[in-house]
Amino acid sequence: MTLLTDPQNSSSPPKPIPRHKGHWLWGGTFDFQRAPADFLLEAHEKYGDVFVTRVLTGQSYFIRDPEVVNAINVTHAKHIYKPKVVKQMWKPFLGNGLVPNDGESWKRQHKLIMPAFHKMRIDAYAPTMAEYTTDMVRGWKEGEQRDFRKEMVELTLRIVAKTLFDTDLAHDSETIHDAMQDIVEALIDHAQTPIPAPRWWPSERNRRMVRALDAMDRVIERLIESRRNEGKDRGDLMSHIVFAADEQGGMSNKQMRDELMTLIFAGHETTAHNLTWAWYLLAKNRDKLAKAQREIDETLSGKPIGVDDLRDLPYLEMCLKESLRCLPAVWIYGREAQCDLRLGDYVFPKGAILAVSPMATGRNSKHFDNPDEYRPERWTREFERQLPRGAYVPFAAGPRVCLGKQFAMMEMRIVLGTLIQNIDVNILDGFEPDFLPQISFNPGERGMQMKVRFRHGAPVRAGDSPPQRATPSVHAA
Ligand code: HEM
Repeated sequence: MTLLTDPQNSSSPPKPIPRHKGHWLWGGTFDFQRAPADFLLEAHEKYGDVFVTRVLTGQSYFIRDPEVVNAINVTHAKHIYKPKVVKQMWKPFLGNGLVPNDGESWKRQHKLIMPAFHKMRIDAYAPTMAEYTTDMVRGWKEGEQRDFRKEMVELTLRIVAKTLFDTDLAHDSETIHDAMQDIVEALIDHAQTPIPAPRWWPSERNRRMVRALDAMDRVIERLIESRRNEGKDRGDLMSHIVFAADEQGGMSNKQMRDELMTLIFAGHETTAHNLTWAWYLLAKNRDKLAKAQREIDETLSGKPIGVDDLRDLPYLEMCLKESLRCLPAVWIYGREAQCDLRLGDYVFPKGAILAVSPMATGRNSKHFDNPDEYRPERWTREFERQLPRGAYVPFAAGPRVCLGKQFAMMEMRIVLGTLIQNIDVNILDGFEPDFLPQISFNPGERGMQMKVRFRHGAPVRAGDSPPQRATPSVHAA
């Protein structure tokens, strides 16, 4: 048996890991599947920062101890892969794209795709993000009801398509939206059924999944073909994917398809849901909203947000960091130990599933006082400096950190900032969303219903001269 020791802790004997026994046959499977977020938060309170339970046929270790989380993400990352069971789930959808990929193949793909996410490149995406948000708001009417979640899914999809692939998916947005919904439902069904029907079984759900994958594949094939026919390397990510060649030659058609599918999926769902929760939390905390409005109004004086304004909007960023702590869209992610490992004070056997929950780490009262309280003010520089590594991981960390982290943080600030500037942040009277921790944490089919209430009439676009108006009044609680 290979036992990798952590030099800092090798002298002390490992700590025992408490076990949640659950059902005599299924272990914690049903407790986890019934109400995963509640189960996690309660079990961590009961057993501590690391506990183990049986989920289906494997041993799953649930971890919110920052030292162990950091070892998984960073220091021992090379001994830890994505779980086979998760790869199996993603396979028909993302194939071998960056999210489920591992090892040498992941390294090569990561190197090819990474340049699209360099800071200068990302900064150049800012005007598109602002323009598309303004376009969206201009299509809204005073007093009408809208599903904020649906609006965000459409907007973030358009943004990712335009910025990364230089294409407008507005005409395909319905197809992609419906296909994604069917695919995600099938994946959730697969993940939540103890013994799922095999993929080849002609169930209604499997048939819908096949139709949805076909529809997505057609959109992606069209994107690749049109860039190939153009024959010109525009230097953007799409050109990189279609024309890039390294010492091993270019990407196969299948790999191109898998990367595009991964970027379309990873690049919009999570951002849309995080924006939805950020909106919800501000709507519920009107005093914080008033502060955010004041900062935006005073900094921008009515002009649209540009990338250079972002450093002058620290409170907006604090609001987003706090919503990523309270209600993170990626509420859990998994890894599998490739050999026996000692991580921090604990030993994990080869094959152990290591589940890290950004939601559980964010609600740990050892690191966040009053963790159930939405308090953007906690995110001072000093607070961030003293926070242990591994205590706050909404984008994971280390080599497998979210490739779109900077992209997403900029996009969320521009989108939410533009919305706060122009629209009163609200939830329809009497409406309460569902809280569904599925593939991403989302508000369910009923969405997030809001009423459009402009703060000062239709918004200005970049390039328009700002209207002459006094600093608008603040909507206090
Ligand atoms: C607020 C929005 C987002 C959040 C919270 C988020 C979070 C995450 C997390 C936690 C992971 C690691 C998952 C795992 O290891 O299983 C991840 C991976 C990834 N994300 Fe994001 N993400 C966001 C937005 C984006 C965007 C906008 C893009 C692209 C435009 C993107 C692209 C990716 C990719 C490609 C990976 C795989 C990286 C790798 O393993 O090499 N994400 N994201």
